[in-house]
Amino acid sequence: MTSDEGSFTDRVIIVTGAARGIGRGIATVLAARGARLALVDVDGQTASETAHIVEEAGGQVLTLEADVSQPQAVETAIRGTVDRFGRLDGLVNNAGAIRMGPALDASAAEWKLQYEVNLLGTYLMSRQVAAAMIEHGWKGSIVNVASNAGKVGYPNMAAYNATKAGVVSLTRTLAAEWAEHGINVNAVCPGGVDTPMLHDVASWIADRIDGDATDLLGEMVPAQLGRHVQPDEVGRVVAFLLSDDATIIRGQSINIDGGDTPY
Ligand SMILES: NC(=O)c1ccc[n+]([C@@H]2O[C@H](COP(=O)([O-])OP(=O)(O)OC[C@H]3O[C@@H](n4cnc5c(N)ncnc54)[C@H](O)[C@@H]3O)[C@@H](O)[C@H]2O)c1
Repeated sequence: MTSDEGSFTDRVIIVTGAARGIGRGIATVLAARGARLALVDVDGQTASETAHIVEEAGGQVLTLEADVSQPQAVETAIRGTVDRFGRLDGLVNNAGAIRMGPALDASAAEWKLQYEVNLLGTYLMSRQVAAAMIEHGWKGSIVNVASNAGKVGYPNMAAYNATKAGVVSLTRTLAAEWAEHGINVNAVCPGGVDTPMLHDVASWIADRIDGDATDLLGEMVPAQLGRHVQPDEVGRVVAFLLSDDATIIRGQSINIDGGDTPY
């Protein structure tokens, strides 16, 4: 047993976008440390696969099929979590969407979708969770999954970059507003994480340049690290930010990209 195992025993944490990729990695790490989890994803069927993995390892899970951009669905998911577990200690806003395309061609519908999932969804989930925590006098922490794209501004993802920069800004605001309630808010900015989203990005670029998606994926590794970041590595940093050890870190957006982004 490592010193981290059991550090979240009985804590109740909601993870959005937990069906696959980084969300699944975060859920696995938190469950291994004793957290009871509510897995929220628009893809309920695949989220059940994550739940199965967590339960097989001895974790307690509630799976909730919900779209984080829909206020009513968000309210129902938070109420369902509190009804099931009787408390709420943390939230990880990980659900995200990307639509690749040059800024000259991006449609209003693509902008709207990415804004609604990445930024509005993060706000709606955070607001509902904070309201429940404040109502019951529970202290807790929120970690938002932004992106190094929100700092760097990569080409062909203008709306995605802008929404992730918005998450970085929202993180600062919510940390400042909710400090008096004992709610800590931070963000992580991953980059080059081996997930279906990164595979989709590699395929999109490959199609445009008539290249090979696997080769391109291999090139999309953080330079200093020399390999992709793995979802559970993001999960361990998220776990730290959710923990009492991170009380002194507030409103920050921490890069998890193997050193690619120096600011
Ligand atoms: N993979 C990377 O390199 C990388 C880098 C930086 C940031 N991120 C961010 O990390 C997060 C997870 O990314 P990933 O790579 O695992 O992506 P992914 O596409 O593999 O997984 C995203 C998950 O979010 C869910 N989701 C999408 N829209 C939703 C909605 N409206 N409501 C609820 N769930 C919804 C999907 O069903 C899916 O399970 C995202 O916010 C993404 O922007 C990823």
